[in-house]
Amino acid sequence: LTASLRLNTRTPIAPVNPRLFGSFVEHMGRAVYTGIFEPGHDTADAAGFRSDVADLVRELGVSIVRYPGGNFVSGFKWEDSVGPVDERPVRLDAAWHSIETNRVGIHEFAAWAASAGVEVMQAVNLGTRGVAEAAELLEYCNIPRGTALSDARRANGSDEPFDIRVWCLGNEMDGPWQIGHKTADEYGRLAAETARLMRFVDPRIELVAAGSSNAEMPTFGSWERTVLTHTAGLVDHISVHAYYEELDGDADSFLASAVGLDRYLDEVAQIIDEVRAEAGIERPIGISVDEWNVWYQTRFNEVDKEPLLTGEWNEAPRLIEDEYGVTDAVVVGSLLNSLLRHGDRVSMANLAQLVNVIAPIRSEPGGPAWRQTTFHPFERTARFARGEILEVDVSGAPVVETQKYGAVPVVDAAATRDGDDVVLFLVNRSTTDVLALSVEIPDVAGLALVDAETLTVPDGLDRHASNTATEPARVGLVRLAGVEVSSESGAAAAGSAAVSATLP
Ligand code: AHR
Repeated sequence: LTASLRLNTRTPIAPVNPRLFGSFVEHMGRAVYTGIFEPGHDTADAAGFRSDVADLVRELGVSIVRYPGGNFVSGFKWEDSVGPVDERPVRLDAAWHSIETNRVGIHEFAAWAASAGVEVMQAVNLGTRGVAEAAELLEYCNIPRGTALSDARRANGSDEPFDIRVWCLGNEMDGPWQIGHKTADEYGRLAAETARLMRFVDPRIELVAAGSSNAEMPTFGSWERTVLTHTAGLVDHISVHAYYEELDGDADSFLASAVGLDRYLDEVAQIIDEVRAEAGIERPIGISVDEWNVWYQTRFNEVDKEPLLTGEWNEAPRLIEDEYGVTDAVVVGSLLNSLLRHGDRVSMANLAQLVNVIAPIRSEPGGPAWRQTTFHPFERTARFARGEILEVDVSGAPVVETQKYGAVPVVDAAATRDGDDVVLFLVNRSTTDVLALSVEIPDVAGLALVDAETLTVPDGLDRHASNTATEPARVGLVRLAGVEVSSESGAAAAGSAAVSATLP
């Protein structure tokens, strides 16, 4: 297969926003307990947090972390998670049929986030709780001193406010599985009133209204329209959640998942524009893709969920610890490209989740921590996407016919430019052919190749090859040989460059 691509260097899409490289830690499964936190582990710090995991979080390049849920937050009483650890109540977490000890709470997570170099994105419970409790949590976290709640925070060990800027107004409230599930009107009103009071308490905050749980929800579209009609002018972002999986061995459709995300984001962007225009709202509204990933959710729903919901109540059970193969990492790479392509509309994005629960980082209790295959595309994109996002014209590429999305370009692409540095993020969607590419980069002078890498092409082309506790580095990054860059200083003032490469 061969394909010719062309970069548009004249009209960048948007500056690269570091918040596109966020992630998510929920009190779910082993994300917190034996994930980021494991007192007694060889690498645990004085507070009980695993430094081997924190090192990988820093290496991954995560900018902002959503916390503490997810479905968990819809039953969460934040007051349980502060104060002396020995006095904190042990609760049932009905969302995940688990025991929550509250050993890690608001203070511990804020301290961990500061040491891991990530911003906290805090969700409030709009399932079983409401306006007052959300405002009280905000007061506890962000008001410096001199009120009952801010002084309680100080007495609990944090003299300085946590100063959390980004707040999610509930989670997946459109889903019948959600504790305190609501209609769009019910949620829209509650979110609006919560937003209004939270803004009175701290006008500096950014608020995220909960959008649809996925693009296949029967209410998708009307949910966004109704919620935004109530909240536009009060919120800064509306969320999108998007999970993808390979179903029935249909790898072609799975590899085209980014086309699904492109369309989903385009639809939400259009609804935002329409509602803002109809209501005459000036305040911009970004899309917060605050849960996205590959997740073998059908397997979870059909096989694992029933025993989980009817079985014993356990602390930190093993929940959705998906082991990712090479194909999954390729799809994650293309989803990152989709986020970059929508960098003018996506204001935040959170890979769900960070550790153990459908995560790029895995850890074993008392054992090692390691990078899943999906770690690599995320880490490289977070590290190298800098400056401005450039549009890539892929119309010169052949197509792959897919059952789910029709004919899609065989190559998925994004690009960034930071001064003289141009970075290409490319995915070959073909499961059978290598792809010989040429990429034209106009208006640049004197480009030379700095580096080219690809994911390990496993022996025997086993696209399901993964990394495990005993073989943690089976899939990684290897040099991509044979990449050439030629520069021409022709009639055009800045000249142009052409890159040729063969993608496995
Ligand atoms: O990330 C796992 C779960 O997926 C979250 O708790 C929920 O918000 C979503 O359905």
